[in-house]
Amino acid sequence: GAPVEVDISKLELGQQINVEWRGKPVWVLKRTPEMLANLPKLDPKLLDPKSDGSVQPDNCKNEGRSIKPEILVAVGVCTHLGCSPTFRPDLGPADLGGDWLGGYYCPCHGSKYDLAGRVYSGVPAPKNLDIPPYKYLSDTRIMVG
Ligand code: FES
Repeated sequence: GAPVEVDISKLELGQQINVEWRGKPVWVLKRTPEMLANLPKLDPKLLDPKSDGSVQPDNCKNEGRSIKPEILVAVGVCTHLGCSPTFRPDLGPADLGGDWLGGYYCPCHGSKYDLAGRVYSGVPAPKNLDIPPYKYLSDTRIMVG
């Protein structure tokens, strides 16, 4: 599959855009400072908070699993059976429990991920969402693949 260029110049804080790469959805989310601050708080609830057993490039081996902290680039395919999880950035919705801090919810069998694509413990999905290889062509353009 060919690499895909993504223009993030119009991406607002808290907004996500979806592109397709190798036939898969890839999400590009611009995380707010609040979203970033919440990531470490979730570590105790996660299966693999340091992402040791998950797929990501070496330059994304950090808390936010990203090159630049605010921009998440992730493959939007649930690591259970391949559904595409839904973007649920809202805090504490009733259907996700009052302590939900935003993330992704897979409607197929209920797997939950945080806003770094890290999977919660106790759900069917066995690992964090994949982070694809990508690079910055400029401050506002990313190349995925
Ligand atoms: Fe996502 Fe099963 S495919 S929980």
